[in-house]
Amino acid sequence: MKPPHNLVLNFVASAWLLFTMTGVHAAEPLVLQNVMKDLGKNMQTITDGVSREDWELVEKTAPLIADHPQPPMSEKMRIMGFMGSNMGKFKAYDGETHDQALAIGKAARAKDGQGIILSFQKLQTSCYNCHSEFRKPIVEHFYGKKDAAQ
Ligand code: HEC
Repeated sequence: MKPPHNLVLNFVASAWLLFTMTGVHAAEPLVLQNVMKDLGKNMQTITDGVSREDWELVEKTAPLIADHPQPPMSEKMRIMGFMGSNMGKFKAYDGETHDQALAIGKAARAKDGQGIILSFQKLQTSCYNCHSEFRKPIVEHFYGKKDAAQ
């Protein structure tokens, strides 16, 4: 029986191996990209819900943004490896997205259209903040493209 810290070391080593191996196929889209596409769709659903005053739809959709799926650990390791000391900031933007989406859900539960709209603006700002700072460098690093637009 190995002491637990060996397990941790093994894990880090295999994650690193996975990182170097997957790095060969650098042009494969990140799982993160699919997570983002879904965030985009759910934002549209919320806009649609507000237009139709369908608070139930808004309430149901907000948690899909707040608790969006995460990329697998191997991909997180690649992203963390690239982000280095910026990772804290990256995570903070994601936390802001989480909080604002929760606020939308809360406002929808209260059928507070104005509250939803105010939180929606803050939510969009949180998406935008991360995109304007990190999207381009991440896209360039992982896809070797100069332009973030696909
Ligand atoms: C913590 C950082 C971060 C936050 C917060 C964030 N994004 Fe992103 N987003 C990214 C990165 C990085 C990419 C580029 C991913 C890629 O191309 O692999 C991206 C790309 C996208 C794309 C383009 C996907 C495609 O088809 O290429 C959409 C749409 C998107 N995000 C929507 C959103 C929405 C909506 C929110 C807020 C609800 C949001 N994002 C919040 C980092 C973030």
